[in-house]
Amino acid sequence: MSIRFQVNGEEVEVGSDGASTLILALRNELGLKGTRFGCGEENCGACNVMIDDRLHYACSIFVEDVTGKRVETVEGLRGPVADALRAALAEAGAGQCGYCLSGIFVTAHDLLSRRQRPSMVEVKQALSRNLCRCGAHLGILRAVAAAIDTVVASGGYDEA
Ligand code: FES
Ligand code: FES
Repeated sequence: MSIRFQVNGEEVEVGSDGASTLILALRNELGLKGTRFGCGEENCGACNVMIDDRLHYACSIFVEDVTGKRVETVEGLRGPVADALRAALAEAGAGQCGYCLSGIFVTAHDLLSRRQRPSMVEVKQALSRNLCRCGAHLGILRAVAAAIDTVVASGGYDEA
């Protein structure tokens, strides 16, 4: 079966046996390795992507269910919020092994793009389903806070 959808602004076509998930198509057929496979059961957030502007697990949706939809992965997110988050996470050295970070990036980007200057309570709530087995949460939260400050200082929310 051939399935068409959009990934990071490009039309793509992948094969599917009908039981294949979006994350397998992204990683194995399209070479987008940034989306990570953790639990495979909607429990860790490592696989988070955006589908038609909504946060979604890529491990639990069949690829045929994204037919005709717009998917954005960690590789494709651009703009002032994405730039601030990338810089803050890198500068803080947030994370240890880094396995969780792309899912955290996509989740935090979703929040920071929807909410003007979210509080840390909101940040913690948004990230509460993103697990980090290294226990690097504090550094990650500090980096997200720094990214929020950067976006506010640059007036970037209007462009987000
Ligand atoms: S791999 Fe999808 S939620 Fe864990
Ligand atoms: S930094 Fe290793 S899982 Fe989060």
